[in-house]
Amino acid sequence: MCGIFGYYGRRDATPILVEGLRRLEYRGYDSSGIAVKNNGINIYKKSGKVERLSEMITTEVEGTIGIAHTRWATHGEANDINAHPHLSFDGKVAIVHNGIIENFREVRRNLTQKGVELNSETDSEVLAQLIALELAKGSKPIVAVRRILKRIHGTWGLCAVFSDHDQIIVARNGSPLVIGKGTDETFISSDPHALMEHTQEVYFLEDGDLAEIDHTGFKITRMSGQLSSTEVTVLEEEWGEVELGEYPHFMIKEIHEQAEALRQCIAGRTRHKQGTVKLGGLKLTPAEMRAIPHVRLIGCGTSLHACQIGQIAIEELARVPAVAHVASEFRYNNSVINPKAIHLAVSQSGETADTLSAVKEIQLKGGSVWGIINVVASSIARQCGMGVYIHSGPEQAVASTKAFSNMAASLILFAIQMGRTRSFSAERGRELIDNLHTIPGQIEKYLANPGPIAEAVDAVIGAKSVLFLGRGVSAPVAREGALKLMEIAYIPCMAYPAGEMKHGPIALLEKGSPVVVIAPNDKLKYKTLSNIQECKARGAKIILIHEEGDDELAEEADISIAVPKSEGLLSPLLTVIPTQLIAYQAALKLGHDVDRPRNLAKSVTVE
Ligand code: AGP
Repeated sequence: MCGIFGYYGRRDATPILVEGLRRLEYRGYDSSGIAVKNNGINIYKKSGKVERLSEMITTEVEGTIGIAHTRWATHGEANDINAHPHLSFDGKVAIVHNGIIENFREVRRNLTQKGVELNSETDSEVLAQLIALELAKGSKPIVAVRRILKRIHGTWGLCAVFSDHDQIIVARNGSPLVIGKGTDETFISSDPHALMEHTQEVYFLEDGDLAEIDHTGFKITRMSGQLSSTEVTVLEEEWGEVELGEYPHFMIKEIHEQAEALRQCIAGRTRHKQGTVKLGGLKLTPAEMRAIPHVRLIGCGTSLHACQIGQIAIEELARVPAVAHVASEFRYNNSVINPKAIHLAVSQSGETADTLSAVKEIQLKGGSVWGIINVVASSIARQCGMGVYIHSGPEQAVASTKAFSNMAASLILFAIQMGRTRSFSAERGRELIDNLHTIPGQIEKYLANPGPIAEAVDAVIGAKSVLFLGRGVSAPVAREGALKLMEIAYIPCMAYPAGEMKHGPIALLEKGSPVVVIAPNDKLKYKTLSNIQECKARGAKIILIHEEGDDELAEEADISIAVPKSEGLLSPLLTVIPTQLIAYQAALKLGHDVDRPRNLAKSVTVE
């Protein structure tokens, strides 16, 4: 989604800004631009890829202070004019903005009444115009920004440069912004990954923080003018630059990294002798775990599917009611919060606005939330203050793969830890732990020989739609498989619990309709088999993901993809992989940009 990069120092800002934008590209965007201060403010902006922008900057723009942006359109189409930065009517202020100005219509109206002409259709442009009007009254930049933000409703990660002041002013409210401290230079970004090549010493601004950046460094204050308590964080190595290596795309690289990522996720967390798990970040004693009345899991997209697996694992192993919720709905449904319950916010990026809002809502109502997060020190991780890092390592492809597996695995670890305090024996715990430790090797084994993926791809790419079915833990895998194929291959997909198929989607089946069925050899196998028969009776083409050696089931398939045998609850960690490969190969065959699918963003920072 939208990304911000900024630079204040002694070096030429332009190449640093363009490189910063390149590092933000993985997040998804549709236009980009830079503003550099020299004699006045020079702006370059362009729809399309950063490559197009850099081709446009033919003459060297001299200047050591600048801001840059990748835009993911919300208000106004993705064109050159709506791209950021936006310049004020008098040319004295340029801004880049992430987030949404909710009262922008009213603000635009007021500005127009004052004779200010607006150039773009965006909500963001009003910020530049308002700051310029405030500066014209004689206010200093920090005072001007602070004043105008008091009139704004919405969210912002804001950066402003000025023609008459050697300063950058930044502000955060609900949209991440990080300041990187270099030697005699300061960097700004909405994404800490983009800062890693310059510095590891960073300051994550809190909501309500503003910062004044100049030749002396920077000063972070609150909206009230008081000093902020925001402290330095030293970024871990794993945030560093991610290279493709031998792989053509990040998605396939990340699919192959799943085994190692899973090892990292489990490492040091299992206690074989006691048959349990220790997730230190939970900060919960066994007695506290025993007292938990219910668990609610909250997430979006792929993370929601991991939550649905977590729901089943927690109920099965810990015998505690658990429910997975769509974060964007949970936030506004005035849910009843029990302060004794556990709420788990699940997110790869840790920046998803819907999930972050749900976390804040739960906390406001007296509930406690634990994060199940990949990106260390991200907004949700910091907002929760406790939880579990899933340790997938950086995930660059928009389509989430290795994070899904590690989110599901972390939730299974949580279910084992909770279950051991309440319901099952050490022996059962040891069995689960042993089985979990075998999964990474099984993933490697499967990926070395993934079966007839190409045949499955041929069956789905020309289809009007693809139906994904599964029962129990395989129902969320079906949803995840459908989401993956839809988001990168742009093929309409539907996912249903297999038993629900006959209540509606069966109407779509005709001769040759591809149906992807996830059917491990678990207690629900024969139920799923009946649903396969129902599909076949209507001429559907069955692409079956099943367990190695399960010939009884394999015989029913048109295309049969076998994964290694595993314990039922752990099967999603294996059965999901063929669905990822099908999506990847289908998108490739259709000529799509696999890592950066259209309209999507890696981290969705608007509600
Ligand atoms: C995954 O392939 C999707 N791109 C998307 O659904 C994603 O999982 C969702 O936006 C949630 O992101 P998060 O895990 O960073 O919160």
